[in-house]
Amino acid sequence: MEIKFAKNISLSEIKTDVLILPFTEDYKGAVYSTLDKDTGGLIRRIIETKEFTGKHTELTLIHTKTGKVILVGLGKAAEVTAERLRRAGGKVFLSKYIKGHDVTSAALSTAIFQEQKLGARHTAVFYFIEGGLLSRYEFKRYKKPEKEQPNDLKTLTLLDCRADLGDEMKWFDAVIPAVSFTRDLVNTPSSDMTPAILAEAAKSLSGKRVKVKVLDAEASKKEGMWSYLSVAKGSVEPPKFIVIEYKGGKDSKKAPVAIIGKSITFDSGGISLKPADGMEKMKYDMAGGAATLGIIKAVAALSLPINIVAVLPATENMPSGSATRPGDVVTAITGKTIEILNTDAEGRLVLVDAIGYAIKHYKPAVVIDMATLTGACSIALGNEAAAMMGNNESLMDDLKKASAETYERVWQMPLYEEFKDYLKSDVADIKNIGGRTGGLITAAYFISEFVTDTPWVHLDIASTAFTDKDKPYLCKGATGIGVRLIMNYLLNSND
Ligand code: BES
Ligand code: MN
Ligand code: ZN
Repeated sequence: MEIKFAKNISLSEIKTDVLILPFTEDYKGAVYSTLDKDTGGLIRRIIETKEFTGKHTELTLIHTKTGKVILVGLGKAAEVTAERLRRAGGKVFLSKYIKGHDVTSAALSTAIFQEQKLGARHTAVFYFIEGGLLSRYEFKRYKKPEKEQPNDLKTLTLLDCRADLGDEMKWFDAVIPAVSFTRDLVNTPSSDMTPAILAEAAKSLSGKRVKVKVLDAEASKKEGMWSYLSVAKGSVEPPKFIVIEYKGGKDSKKAPVAIIGKSITFDSGGISLKPADGMEKMKYDMAGGAATLGIIKAVAALSLPINIVAVLPATENMPSGSATRPGDVVTAITGKTIEILNTDAEGRLVLVDAIGYAIKHYKPAVVIDMATLTGACSIALGNEAAAMMGNNESLMDDLKKASAETYERVWQMPLYEEFKDYLKSDVADIKNIGGRTGGLITAAYFISEFVTDTPWVHLDIASTAFTDKDKPYLCKGATGIGVRLIMNYLLNSND
């Protein structure tokens, strides 16, 4: 969808399939008075009769002699937030008044947004459109195209937009397609999203500043990544250890930000097999890796002046005669030995080698890992926030700030040193599970034991990477969590 700007056109004269008018509950009749007059008082009447009140996400269509007009509620002016604007935007663009009615052009009156003070990074109109754009994502790869395809929205004209939206438009162009790219990768079933296919997706991002390198099993053995390889042993799909360098910084030697994404393209549990119920969801166990690729795509599109190294330890986790057995002991890249007591706790096994590899070869300034790591994450936080743990408070504060801005929320959990005991092994340096309690934390604590002193933050996105029900501007399926969050973090640290 193309976004255009128009100034000084009266609302009754604009040529568009639909005109979108946002209202707050405090609307006093000023902003739309001319249009109201031109339509014989239609707007005034619908408000006076309280048939439309401007309540948050309330939606009404009126046919005027100048065309179709959608009224959308933003709620009380004092209660408007960035997220409420996203939800209102999503509501409009998903509504039947736009979808499926051959609506190809829409115009949005932005006058009411000028009054809105948010204290956020962007303007109110930005958030409204962001919600609208995110809501338009669909995953149709496996659906027969409908015979009668209704025309889709092609242009959105912003009327009398006083804010300078130059940076915002660049963000939309870079970040929204990156989020969709991530969501496509996650939604694709495992048979079509093998480690090799994920590696191809990574390679598709290669360019002037982006170099992609893929280590096969042999190369991973040479690196001593036996923890990662132990997960791959049971699968016929060859593992692919994907390393991406983005060099945009003035000083190409400057220590990069390392972004590590868990990339299990299917997690059956291995020999510690998962129950059948819900196992199909384990196609999304590569959501961390997919978000990492989305971030690289967006960073490259914006040519951000920073250096990044991204690592995706991609493999399946399958049971077979060659699979790792509970009780096996493996050595990670750092030299630490791990007793694998449960082959379903495989995420941490691939992550520690990926993080170890990044630290060994790139000496990053910070390490951020994103992983669908534990079922316990949803027990703790439901589906409302990613769990955050790390060894550096200021890094975590930066992520909290980015999370508040994007509403990809994170919630910090403690890494008390007492958790070390939970992971004591009788035979090796550490074991890969910590017992029944504190599962969200012991998983992160396990990782922390391999990071040592590099500033590091772990985001457990197990309960937020995928949604079983439609959300206000995110349809069922992959949410793309992580992309907007980390992009915001990177932009903030670059301000
Ligand atoms: N990929 C799963 C975690 C998961 C569960 C993600 C549900 C998304 C939704 C992970 O590999 C796993 O199986 N974790 C185990 C760890 C346990 C064996 C210590 C879990 O949470 O049950
Ligand atoms: Mn698992
Ligand atoms: Zn997993």
